Amino acid sequence: MGDKNILVTGGAGFIGTHTVLQLLNEGFRVSIIDNLDNSSEEAVKRVRELVGVELSKKLEFIQGDLRNKDDIANLFSRNKFDAVIHFAGLKAVGESVAYPFRYFDNNMIGSINLYQIMAKYDCKKLVFSSSATVYGQPDKIPCVEDFELKAMNPYGRTKLFLEEIARDIANADAEWRVILLRYFNPVAAHESGRLGEDPKGIPNNLMPYIQQVAVGRLPELNIYGHDYPTKDGTAIRDYIHVMDLADGHVAALRKLFTTKNIGCTAYNLGTGRGASVLEMVAAFEKASGKKIPTKLCPRRPGDATAVYASTEKAEKELGWKAKYGIDEMCRDQWNWASENPWGYQGKSN
Ligand code: NAD
Ligand code: WQD
Repeated sequence: MGDKNILVTGGAGFIGTHTVLQLLNEGFRVSIIDNLDNSSEEAVKRVRELVGVELSKKLEFIQGDLRNKDDIANLFSRNKFDAVIHFAGLKAVGESVAYPFRYFDNNMIGSINLYQIMAKYDCKKLVFSSSATVYGQPDKIPCVEDFELKAMNPYGRTKLFLEEIARDIANADAEWRVILLRYFNPVAAHESGRLGEDPKGIPNNLMPYIQQVAVGRLPELNIYGHDYPTKDGTAIRDYIHVMDLADGHVAALRKLFTTKNIGCTAYNLGTGRGASVLEMVAAFEKASGKKIPTKLCPRRPGDATAVYASTEKAEKELGWKAKYGIDEMCRDQWNWASENPWGYQGKSN
């Protein structure tokens, strides 16, 4: 299995770097294509450092854009890929509402270009980064893979459409094997403190925001909603350690390589446990020894009360289960934050 050659789109990003690290550790050869729109080559350099000189010879990095078909075709003309893990995409919900064309152009066109070139070069095994966002505001929890899907915003719509497109491709040609991985709330960082999430601008997501308050980059955390019908009034999510996610991708690849006739199938990657915003703040304060100043604010439009995953299908069919709880997530998030308070580039002003 380890001799397989994997193309990872968006491999310089948050989930991509952690997954590439695990793939190399498992013996896979990896090519990354990334336009560095939301990442930096420093992150790839650190993956090389972590795996060491020998394994890093199995890693190729190409700066390229999926919207440019030639960038993809050049890669496929030089390599025989056994499978693709497709992370590349834009992911900011608010930005997608303000600039929907950006999301349709980047996420839809980029993915369709990729799939066309994969078909042309007879590479028909795909792992696609989907999201719990396709459950919308679920009527029931935990979210089960066969729930009805809904999109709440243009970003979510790109994930929903791309899931449908993958199903159509697999229906039309039985040689395709596609796994859609629906991530819940990815957080934390590699335990070394060398890799982590480094969002550009003010973070949209809870954990990077808390982290920036802890290192003094932001003054306080706004808590969006304290009147939800939950145990402490704040909303509940299924936070998952990025290293668990990375292992989930390795499990998905193994499934693709060993199982015929899977067509296109979806798996949740979550822990199956929900934590409230206040519980995450408390766990981070415990892990970091820092007080996080907070301000109670109205609900954020579009937010659901409680979302967490059913993990049964992934456990049964992928043999994968998340290992880490929120204390370990906060420990590793703080380790990354304290070692890299200004992210990969350091402080620029
Ligand atoms: P990220 O922004 O850190 O990584 C995405 C990478 O893709 C970046 O390095 C970016 O430069 C690259 N990229 C974007 N458009 C590209 C293009 N046209 N051509 C080449 N490279 C391009 O994001 P992430 O958190 O690692 O997310 C990875 C994937 O997982 C995304 O598809 C995202 O929608 C999905 N996802 C993320 C989350 C989350 O909360 N982080 C949750 C669910 C799903
Ligand atoms: C978590 C909770 C907020 C920030 C988003 C996307 C989803 C997926 C994962 C990509 C909510 C609260 C947040 C803050 C807060 N991404 N919060 N103060 O909204 O569950 O999911 O990321 O696919 O599509 O929608 O994650 O981290 O933004 O919020 O109180 O400054 O933290 O209201 O209850 P969310 P999040």
